[in-house]
Order: sequence, then structure tokens, then C-alpha cells
Amino acid sequence: MKLNRARNDPIWGEIRSGLKPILGDGVKLVFPEIWTEGHLSWYREIEQSSFRPSLTYGEEEIMERLSEQDVLMMFITVDDHPEGLLLGYTFEGVSLETFYIDTIAVKQKGRGIGRIIMTVLIKWAKKMGYRQIQLDTEYENEKGFLLSSFYEHLGFKVVDIDDEIGNITMQLKL
Ligand SMILES: CC(C)(COP(=O)(O)OP(=O)(O)OC[C@H]1O[C@@H](n2cnc3c(N)ncnc32)[C@H](O)[C@@H]1OP(=O)(O)O)[C@@H](O)C(=O)NCCC(=O)NCCS
Repeated sequence: MKLNRARNDPIWGEIRSGLKPILGDGVKLVFPEIWTEGHLSWYREIEQSSFRPSLTYGEEEIMERLSEQDVLMMFITVDDHPEGLLLGYTFEGVSLETFYIDTIAVKQKGRGIGRIIMTVLIKWAKKMGYRQIQLDTEYENEKGFLLSSFYEHLGFKVVDIDDEIGNITMQLKL
């Protein structure tokens, strides 16, 4: 399974330079080409700091996602410790013109890290010729933080609401 065909795009340097003042000089972006146990344990560490157990993925669920098309699986590390992740891809269910964000999570919340990652991701998706970015998220997390407002600040609009499970679908036209 070959991941991260976009790994060498110089645009990712903008995430690193944006994050350096917040996370220090030890900040790095890691784009695995081959998935290893080490990556899985990074994934789990960040997930556990960010989601309640019912929202975390089993190993099989992660592997399913890593076998989608044009997978972007980025880790942010500081001094080789995981600090954040972004997982996105395209799939026919949403159309191949749509880049789908599956998960974004950072350990240190509310410091501007998520916004920097998303801002550069949006720029990259535009450059790649995608027509929109789409994601599904909980309307509100367990701490009452309105996830919709995080994405709305970046220009996303709600396009669908599933009241039963409290999920929303959001989209950004590029
Ligand atoms: C969602 C998440 C990625 C956002 O990243 P972040 O680095 O914490 O967010 P930022 O500090 O960049 O904040 C961006 C905006 O979101 C809002 N925000 C961030 N944290 C907030 C908080 N705790 N309460 C209220 N608003 C908040 C701010 O209004 C901010 O807007 P501004 O840029 O106009 O000031 C991060 O909080 C996280 O990992 N959460 C757990 C995982 C998750 O729920 N992921 C999303 C679904 S996949």
C-alpha cells in the first residue's frame, strides 16, 4: 500500500514554518509511505488524546481508510513524539473531485495548530485541482466545543445534518 503521493509537495513546508513558533524547532511533518506498527502507535496516541473511546478506530478501520485513493496521512511530530495527525483521501462515494477529510486531531488544542494545518491543506487541495473539501463531524464534542465553528472559521458550510447521531457534513468549495 503506497501512501502519500503528495509527500514531496513543497507546500507542506508552510505547515512546518507556521508551527515552529508554537511547537519549537523540533517540529517535523512525517508522511509515511509504508504503514508500520510505529505509525499505528502514533495514531493511537493522538486519537486517545482527542476522541472518546467510542469514536476511535480499530486497526481494521484505519487500514480500510489507508486503502482509499490519494491518501494523505500526515503526522506532526515534535522531537520525534507525535503531536497531531491529518488523514484525508478521495473516494467515489463523494466523487473524485472532492478531497475528504477523515480525521484531524492535535494534542495541544486551542493554540492555533489546527487552523494552520487546515489553511495549508485548503491551499494544497486547490492547487491539486479538487473542487471541494468535505468532512463529517460531530456538531459538538463532549466538552461542548462546537466543531462546526472551527470549520466555519475556515469557510466551510454545513450541507447536511444527521440529527439522530448528532453529525454534520460540511463542505468548502474551492
Ligand atoms: C478540532 C481541532 C483539530 C482544532 O484544532 P485546534 O488547534 O485546537 O484549533 P485552533 O486553536 O487552530 O482554533 C481554530 C479556531 O477554532 C476555535 N477553537 C479552537 N479551540 C476551541 C475551544 N476549545 N473552544 C472554542 N473554540 C475553539 C477557535 O475559535 C479558533 O478560531 P480563531 O482562529 O478565529 O481564533 C482540535 O481541537 C482537536 O484535535 N480536537 C479533537 C479531535 C477532533 O474533534 N477533531 C475534529 C473531528 S475529526
